[in-house]
Amino acid sequence: MKALVLSGGRATRLRPITHTSAKQLVPVANKPILFYALEAIRDAGIRDIGIIVGHTAEEIMAAVGGGERWGVKVTYISQEAPLGLAHAVKIAHPFIGNDRFVMFLGDNLIREGVTEVVQRFEGEQANAHIMLAKVPNPQDFGVAELDGNRVQRLVEKPKEPKSDLALVGVYLFDSNIFKAVNAIKPSARGELEITDAIQYLIEKDYAVHWHLITGWWKDTGKLEDLLEANRLVLENIETRIEGRVDESSCTDGRVIVEKGAEIVRSVIRGPAIIGEDCRIEDSYVGPFTSIYNRVTITGSEVEHSIVLEDSCIRGIGARIEDSLIGKNVTVSKDDGRPRAYRLMLGDNSDVSVL
Ligand code: DAU
Repeated sequence: MKALVLSGGRATRLRPITHTSAKQLVPVANKPILFYALEAIRDAGIRDIGIIVGHTAEEIMAAVGGGERWGVKVTYISQEAPLGLAHAVKIAHPFIGNDRFVMFLGDNLIREGVTEVVQRFEGEQANAHIMLAKVPNPQDFGVAELDGNRVQRLVEKPKEPKSDLALVGVYLFDSNIFKAVNAIKPSARGELEITDAIQYLIEKDYAVHWHLITGWWKDTGKLEDLLEANRLVLENIETRIEGRVDESSCTDGRVIVEKGAEIVRSVIRGPAIIGEDCRIEDSYVGPFTSIYNRVTITGSEVEHSIVLEDSCIRGIGARIEDSLIGKNVTVSKDDGRPRAYRLMLGDNSDVSVL
């Protein structure tokens, strides 16, 4: 089996972070989302991984390299524009050849991994296998309609969903999917939809199997979902203190303090992770917070948030919550006159002030 990971696309819902970075590289619990997919694929015993890349190709290639870190071989497949998930499959044909493969959306995180489903697909006669999850907002996903045990219909982001069963961003296919992606036409949003390609297989009587996933699954395309993914992953960390926590500081619950980090006169309440070479001084870092490498936090409180590398938070009077703070950002209190907010925000930023 091979794997195809989709790491192209546009990511408008995470701007301004994605003006400058690939959404698949935003860290969740201080690890890029994409790395969770690569680990899950490696754990399933697959060594040959194709990664679809778009305009953020350079950044993805710099982060993943040839796949040595995971003991896998990575082949990059360049997509000229985000023309749809089925378009990505189409251009991956030379890489996949006649093999069966698992396709993994690079912004999806799935608790149960893919080991079991890959084993199952290797043993069953199915032409495709999809994973479904019950969700409260099916209109935001591909939605499956079942007839008993059979998938009857798949609709991409229906206005009036007929079920609450969303398509998870992990699919298994045999080479018949190439007939499907070559037969379908672009949808109203101008994309070749994988949902339509699977619908084609259903209509042509190919065997499309499915199972309902049991653990959590997150599509991290929006801020709330990203923060929730961060929360879910942090739930499972174990305490590890490799940095320095001074005697006036305390860590409560499960906390990771990476090497080179210094915690001075501060409280870190887990689950939380403080990256390498951070300095947290006279501050409080609350549950479900991931602070990436080389961040400085002084005289401030941060909770249920993600802060990316090289940023600085200084003297903020109110607690920062539910926030995603990009790389190299400064958030500071200014006591100068005139008293005013002084902002330099990127396009599509979102700021709430007290
Ligand atoms: O997350 C599950 C959902 O993923 C499914 O329920 C939907 O049926 C499926 O269409 C997909 O919906 P999204 O709107 O979330 O897809 P998105 O455009 O966010 O793309 C998913 C990933 O694939 C993302 O990492 C970007 C990448 N991508 C996307 C497109 C359209 C590509 O690499 N190339 C593309 O052309």
